[in-house]
Amino acid sequence: MALSLRFSLFIILLWIPISYSEIRFSEIRSDDRQIIPFDEFGFTHTGRLELNVSKISLSDPNPDFDLSKLGFFLCTRDAWMQVLQQLEDREVTCALQSKLVKPVFTFNNLKSNQKDSFKVLYIETEADQYTLVFANCLSQMKVSMSVKSAMYNLDGKSGRRDYLSAGKTILPRVYFLFFLAYFAIAAIWIHVLYKKRLTVYRIHFFMLAVVVMKALNLICESEDKSYIKRTGSAHGWDVLFYIFSFLKGIMLFTLIVLIGTGWSFLKPYLQDKEKKVLMIVIPLQIVANIAQVVIDETGPYGQDLITWKQVFLLVDVVCCCAVLFPIVWSIKNLREAARTDGKAAVNLMKLTLFRQYYIVVICYIYFTRVVVYALETITSYKYLWTSLVAGELATLAFYVFTGYKFRPEAHNPYFVIDDEEEEAAAEALKLEDEFEL
Ligand SMILES: *[C@@H]1O[C@H](CO)[C@@H](O)[C@H](O)[C@H]1NC(C)=O
Repeated sequence: MALSLRFSLFIILLWIPISYSEIRFSEIRSDDRQIIPFDEFGFTHTGRLELNVSKISLSDPNPDFDLSKLGFFLCTRDAWMQVLQQLEDREVTCALQSKLVKPVFTFNNLKSNQKDSFKVLYIETEADQYTLVFANCLSQMKVSMSVKSAMYNLDGKSGRRDYLSAGKTILPRVYFLFFLAYFAIAAIWIHVLYKKRLTVYRIHFFMLAVVVMKALNLICESEDKSYIKRTGSAHGWDVLFYIFSFLKGIMLFTLIVLIGTGWSFLKPYLQDKEKKVLMIVIPLQIVANIAQVVIDETGPYGQDLITWKQVFLLVDVVCCCAVLFPIVWSIKNLREAARTDGKAAVNLMKLTLFRQYYIVVICYIYFTRVVVYALETITSYKYLWTSLVAGELATLAFYVFTGYKFRPEAHNPYFVIDDEEEEAAAEALKLEDEFEL
C-alpha cells in the first residue's frame, strides 16, 4: 500500500509540467478536424481574448484556396446549437459564415510578408460564456500551428486582468472562508480532545487529521485560484493542492469506513472483511484522484477527457457503495448482540447512532455527487460558484455531524441506564424484530 501511494504521488507530480492553467498553449499537428474547440470562458462586458498563433503551416499551400474558410471564432453554447442546425439545413456551408458566431481571425488576413503567424487582441463586450473554436472548412486540408490563448476580464475599477471566468472569480474568497471554518473546527476539536482526554480514542485523532487535511486542501486551493486569477497560470500551489486533496480523499473514505466498523470505540481490531473494504477503497481513491487531476488539467476539450470522467465516476460510485457495507455489518451485529447479551438499551443507542450515520453518509454522498452536479448543469455560467458552495456546505455539515455524534464522552452515556429504560429498549427491539419478520 505504501508503495502504491508513493507511486501515485509520483504520477501526480509527473502531470504537473503539462498543467495548462488559464493561459493555454496547444500544438496542432497535421489536423484535418473541421472543428477544434480550444477553451471556454465566461466573459463580463470587459472581456479580452489574446490569441497568438505561430508556426502555421498548411498541408496544401496552393494560393487558390479560399483561406477565409480557415479561422478562429468565439461562440456561445446556445448559438452553437443553432449553427449546427444551420449547417445541417445547408443554410451555411461553414461555421465561419454563420452570423451567430463572432469571427476572431480568418486566415485570408494573414499578412503576405509573415504568413506563418499572427497576433490578435479581441475585445468582447457582450457578457456570456464563450468557447474559442477553430474551424477548417477546406476538405482534406491539414493544419499545423502553435496556439497560445489567454482569456480574461478587466476589473472594473483597477483595470487589472482577471483570468478567472466570470462565475469563478470569487472562488479564492469562497475557499478562504471555508478554510477559516475548518480551521475553527480543528481548534474546537483540539479543545474537546484536551478536555476529554481520558476518554479519547485513536479514531478521534484520526478525525482531527482529516479536518486538518481538509483545511490545508482549502487554503491551497484558495491560494492556487487567486494566483491564477492574477497571473493566468498556476504556480506550484496546484501541486500542494493536489497532494492535500489526495490525502484528504483517502483519509475521509478511510474514516467513514473506520467509524462504520466501530473501530477503536466499539472494538480495537478490524475484521478481515472490513480490512478488505479498505483495501478496495484506498487504491480506488488513488485512481479517482489521478483521474480528477487529469480532468482538471486538460481543460474542457482535452482529448480522452470523457474516458477519464467515466473512470472517475465509476471509481467514485464503487467507493461510495463500498463504504456503506461496514456500517450495514455493524448495524446487523448490534441487532444480534442486543438480542443475546441482555443489554438492550446500550445496544439500541448504538444501533440508532449507526443508523443515523448510515443515512447521513448516504445523504452526503447523494448531495455532493448528484445534487451538486445537477446544480452545476442548471445554473447560469455567472453563478457557477453556487454549486460549489452547496457542495462545500454539505461537506461541512457532514464533518460537523460526524464529529458531534462520535465525540469523546466524559461519562459514557451507554452505561448510565436504569432498569426502566432497559425494559423500554428491550420492548423496542422486540417490536423491530416483529416488523422485520
Ligand atoms: C501575445 O503576444 C503579445 C505581444 O507579443 C504579448 O504581449 C502577449 O503576452 C501574448 N499573449 C499570449 C497569450 O501569449
